[in-house]
Amino acid sequence: MNFELTEEHQMIQQAARDFAQNDLLPGVIERDEKQLFPKEEVKKMGELGFLGMMVDEKYNGAGLDTISYVLAMEELSKVDASASVIMSVNNSLVCWGLEKFGTEEQKEKYLKPLAAGEIIGAFCLSEPEAGSDATSQKTTALDKGDHYLLNGNKNWITNGGSASVYLVMAQTDREKAHRGINCLIVEKDMEGFSVGKKEDKLGIRGSDTHSLMFEDVKVPKENRLGEDGFGFKFAMKVLSGGRIGIAAQALGIASGAYELALQYAQDRTTFGKPIGNHQAVGFKLADMATEIEAARLLCLKAAWLKDQGRNFDKASAQAKLYASDVAMRATVEAVQVHGGYGYVKEYHVERLMRDAKITQIYEGTSEIQKIVISRALLSE
Ligand code: CAA
Repeated sequence: MNFELTEEHQMIQQAARDFAQNDLLPGVIERDEKQLFPKEEVKKMGELGFLGMMVDEKYNGAGLDTISYVLAMEELSKVDASASVIMSVNNSLVCWGLEKFGTEEQKEKYLKPLAAGEIIGAFCLSEPEAGSDATSQKTTALDKGDHYLLNGNKNWITNGGSASVYLVMAQTDREKAHRGINCLIVEKDMEGFSVGKKEDKLGIRGSDTHSLMFEDVKVPKENRLGEDGFGFKFAMKVLSGGRIGIAAQALGIASGAYELALQYAQDRTTFGKPIGNHQAVGFKLADMATEIEAARLLCLKAAWLKDQGRNFDKASAQAKLYASDVAMRATVEAVQVHGGYGYVKEYHVERLMRDAKITQIYEGTSEIQKIVISRALLSE
């Protein structure tokens, strides 16, 4: 067993750290306040290869492993979790899904520009009445011979207003239940497709989350991903990989808050000494650092299993479950360490605390992760 990062991994980590400090940090408070999508920053993420990290170079990706992805996600999330969720959805849910299950034509047409970051993608599973219970899809994709006729609404879609390509889950044959669901590739300009309300969120306010409407959208048959009826399994498989990205995001939010708290505890003096030297604060730092290290190991293990071609469903759920709880605890404590300063925007920790909450909710709530983990344990 070797816990050292390779030289290449360290270089990727440093590149992500530099990008986060130089490009994300300067405008992060304003983007959060005004709910501004980080357009220029996302463009640069594409140029640096952060939007198609694990995609093969022949499809314009960076050709890196999942460990590199976790390291980069952590660094970006320390500073700007809105930018990192855009990155995570594009990498894990859209690019990985297309590369693993798409046809050569679909990869040429959609994966290449997505992996290069020329455009971004969205993953559309959630509906007003199908969140955790994802099999209950009301959106329909009726088989009309050479095309599907798509009708319905999607909710809570990350990158909803800024994507060009949408992977949309819809029910083709209700009698077959989840085995009658398909995943269709929808382009933003297809007739009958429109972007609805933008959500006014507690956290990750720089990322745009929208509802989407599909009204008699004709989607060509060649835009179906995988075999007929593969849509639900497709969604489960990509979400399992996506959970590694969100676990790494949670890890980054936690470690970003911890680093700020550690610095503050060294700089701020009360009762004649730095507050970190008071046991009440020192113990908080000790707990935060220990839990963050454990979360990091879970993230890296899940990534390693995926890179080895081994089953990572349980590991990714465990990483997300634990890291998202650590993100909540660490950010709350980081605000506490900062006292009154922690409650104002310029010290960053209040934003990280708001951002942390979503990691316990999206790509499956903590309760869903426990379902996935317990089922895996019982079938082992
Ligand atoms: N890989 C492959 N197939 C899988 C799978 C996996 N990881 N997990 C389940 N399946 C298959 C099962 O084998 C089964 O297929 P068969 O019947 O053909 O054997 C089928 O899927 C149904 O599985 P279950 O019976 O286990 O389904 P269930 O209804 O009991 O629910 C669940 C399973 C885990 C609760 C699932 O519904 C789930 O994960 N829900 C949460 C959905 C979610 O994460 N939504 C997030 C939205 S996307 C998002 O948040 C993105 C963003 O914006 C950031």
